[in-house]
Amino acid sequence: MMKKWKLNSWKNYPVKHIPEYEDQKELDLVLKKIQGFPPLVFAGETRSLKKSLGDVCEGKAFLLQGGDCAESFAEFHPDNIRDTFKVILQMALVLTSSASLPVVKVGRIAGQFSKPRSSPVEVKDGKELPTYLGDNINGIEFSDKARKPDAKRMFRAYSQAASTLNLLRALSQGGFADLKKIHLWNLGFIKKSPEGKKFKEIEDKISDALSFIEACGLHPDYNRRLRTVNFYTSHEALLLPFEQSMTRIDSTSGKYHDTSAHFVWIGDRTRQPDGGHVEFCRGIENPIGIKCGPTLKDSELIKLCNILNPKNELGRITLISRFGADNVEKHLPKLIRSIKKEGLNVVWSCDPMHGNTIKSATGFKTRPFNNVVKEVKRVFGVHKAEGSYAGGLHIEMTGQNVTECTGGAQRISDKDLSHRYHTHCDPRLNANQALELAFLISDEIKKNSQYSKNIIQAVS
Ligand code: PEP
Ligand code: CO
Repeated sequence: MMKKWKLNSWKNYPVKHIPEYEDQKELDLVLKKIQGFPPLVFAGETRSLKKSLGDVCEGKAFLLQGGDCAESFAEFHPDNIRDTFKVILQMALVLTSSASLPVVKVGRIAGQFSKPRSSPVEVKDGKELPTYLGDNINGIEFSDKARKPDAKRMFRAYSQAASTLNLLRALSQGGFADLKKIHLWNLGFIKKSPEGKKFKEIEDKISDALSFIEACGLHPDYNRRLRTVNFYTSHEALLLPFEQSMTRIDSTSGKYHDTSAHFVWIGDRTRQPDGGHVEFCRGIENPIGIKCGPTLKDSELIKLCNILNPKNELGRITLISRFGADNVEKHLPKLIRSIKKEGLNVVWSCDPMHGNTIKSATGFKTRPFNNVVKEVKRVFGVHKAEGSYAGGLHIEMTGQNVTECTGGAQRISDKDLSHRYHTHCDPRLNANQALELAFLISDEIKKNSQYSKNIIQAVS
């Protein structure tokens, strides 16, 4: 029998990766104020995302989740938000057109600030300081002052998330996402690349289809679905004091919703079944992601699913595998088999980023594009062999032309990494690489969706 859940019951469990604040009084004041701030997302939106993820569970849709590893105060700019949004729309369109399935679009955006780090300290030129933990906790500059956790940073993070969401809502609903304006999505520097040219072919196909629809008398202006998109937000539910302050009872259902994002996930380092992060997430209604890395045992995964989704609700749990290209076959089949054996409803998504991080010869943290593609292809292969549905892709990407991951059609080399290495944490795919990835996996997606249709036919 589980103990009663309370908003703060997570505090009775061990928690990892949460900072110590020197000034407890100030922390309490900040959290109290945030409790009174408006919700960033609404319970009804969160429910509709859960419903769409239920469709992904059943092989009727595909999940695309992407954005920064860590959002930062320094990179906060409307163009960056718009460009990330554009690339996600472009990728979604490539995937939709190859799979003939709807794509559920979720950004790692509008709240993805805190980071679990492999070491609590950083040493530079003999000086040791606490590690950078994300802009809502401390600063990236290497100084005593910046690295001290500062509760007031949560105000700035909330405000940045709110205005990011405001722009995202405008972009999704205000005409920019209209399929008739698809030519506006192609970013200047992508247009000239091979991916940009391939995307133009899709653009032309869609324009033809829209002209046909119009000729039949069905004007897209009367069909909201052709003019707007549903775009959802997500981040890692790491900084529990903040998440707790943003969690409210939904007046229509009487249930708790974390209103800081539609979807939150539990990281690979904080997914202990008897830890505070799992305890907190068990009590909120949002769809929950669980990162599944090489150390996750199948028995532990079943335990986690039972704690977090005791009613086996469709769309509640997304398992995000992140093993590294060479470890997929070793770890994934076991997990898939045990989930199947227990009859648990989950979305299987693939994060091909976090298991493929290496240090370049030039000293940068990077990810070879080939390994990213390899991991996705292997994950699709394993799901096919195991008779389960590979339902999603989870990536770290940006709409900017950065040089953080090596390879891809632009052939970014170790030496190029220093040119535009802007990330505050892990290396992201740039706009070209993200679109290239969508094209490179579209064959797998096509086979996968045909396969899922067969599964659906077989069971219905
Ligand atoms: C992340 O998604 O940024 C992350 C830290 O991933 P993981 O928990 O899988 O290491
Ligand atoms: Co990351």
